[in-house]
Amino acid sequence: MTKPVFIDEKIKNFKKKITISGDKSLSIRWALLASQATGTSKAHNLLVSEDVLSTLSCLKKLGTKISLKKNYCEITGFGLNNFNFKKNLILNAGNSGTLGRLILGLLVHSPHKVKLIGDKSLSKRDFSRVVNPLKNFGANFYQNKKSSLPLYIQGTKYVRPIRYYENRGSAQCKSSVMFAALNTPGKTFIKAKKSRDHTEILFKHLKIPIKVKKKKNFDLIEVEGKQNFRAFDYKIPADISSSAFFIVITLLSKASRLTIKNVNLNPSRIGIITILNKMGARIILKNKKIYKGEKIADIYVKSVKFLKAINCPSNLNASAIDEFLIIFLVAARAKGVSYFKNLSELNQKESPRLKLGSKILNMMGIKTILTNHSIKIFGQSNIKLKKNIEIKNYLKDHRVFMMSSIAALSFGGKWKIHDQDSIQTSFPSFLKIIKKLGGKIKQ
Ligand code: S3P
Repeated sequence: MTKPVFIDEKIKNFKKKITISGDKSLSIRWALLASQATGTSKAHNLLVSEDVLSTLSCLKKLGTKISLKKNYCEITGFGLNNFNFKKNLILNAGNSGTLGRLILGLLVHSPHKVKLIGDKSLSKRDFSRVVNPLKNFGANFYQNKKSSLPLYIQGTKYVRPIRYYENRGSAQCKSSVMFAALNTPGKTFIKAKKSRDHTEILFKHLKIPIKVKKKKNFDLIEVEGKQNFRAFDYKIPADISSSAFFIVITLLSKASRLTIKNVNLNPSRIGIITILNKMGARIILKNKKIYKGEKIADIYVKSVKFLKAINCPSNLNASAIDEFLIIFLVAARAKGVSYFKNLSELNQKESPRLKLGSKILNMMGIKTILTNHSIKIFGQSNIKLKKNIEIKNYLKDHRVFMMSSIAALSFGGKWKIHDQDSIQTSFPSFLKIIKKLGGKIKQ
């Protein structure tokens, strides 16, 4: 366990405007796609966090030219299928499921065997979900029985397009297959349960031949591969998943207001806003614009006295998948019993978040009923904690650390929260922004 933080004071009211670091999904996708483009691509406001640095370091090892400066990052790609690397290469995806799964898609025709490794948390996660479809392209995999990391991929010259049904609502699976399709002659067809669609939007923007038909519960995607595309610049907007912690701390504090500037509000990512507004929040989006196909706006949120429980519609699950831990805190303070269902995917994240979320609420004295795929939360509209709470985050899950910090600052009590370094994976400036809002954290 790394150095803990101590929080024993609720945050006072605040009225602030903040900016949040760049979106992680877009940062990783920009880098991976720039490595396949021809020429030098440039990104501003790239998220400089461990997950993105792992992406850059994997791409470097694969022969891509990268220059990370203070204000921007440049990546020079040599076109599709032009990685240049030696035998016995080891790629380390660190903590990042997105990187680990997406990069395998780019390796389906790699001439040499590549070993993929990750940290303790990533090594517990399921890779069969991408290995199985990627095998159908013709790639070979060598792996353990659990289909977790470490694994080896050995590509083939004879890649063939596939038909794939993605039924989890996982953007990582869908995008991994789309990346494999990018380098494969012919048309790959995907029927995908709804999930974040940044890869589709980027493909369209880059004029990579893609057709997307949006149906009620799923999308039909067709990608035609082997079409080179040119380098592209990108100004990465702020991350809604990181913003979520500050939306919730504002909602739960007294007489506070917050504006978060220039956030990516892609409709496939804003389940949290729909859910919180259904629970009684009034989150308003201002200065809406479209940037390269992505919706961007400023978020305006203020505290509310009364929050009501929700029976959360499952069709919002994918669009709020990274935000449930923090949504559970709002449910803890809402009047009535909230119900979140069909959420088994939440236990497949950096740590089993459905279980851990329930455990943390129980430590706070909030009753829950937990199954493998659902949770009922018995809210208390007047939570005032006095006790000592210690959070041991054994898989160093960044969102567990941040949820616990927001709970401590919103509800009181004396908290000792381990593994502050975990925020380095997605949101290194988290504690700095808390302090800017007036939150007292002893490090
Ligand atoms: C991500 C997709 C989601 C999400 C993850 C980032 C992405 O995972 O939880 O943090 O960038 O594609 P799944 O696609 O596995 O649900």
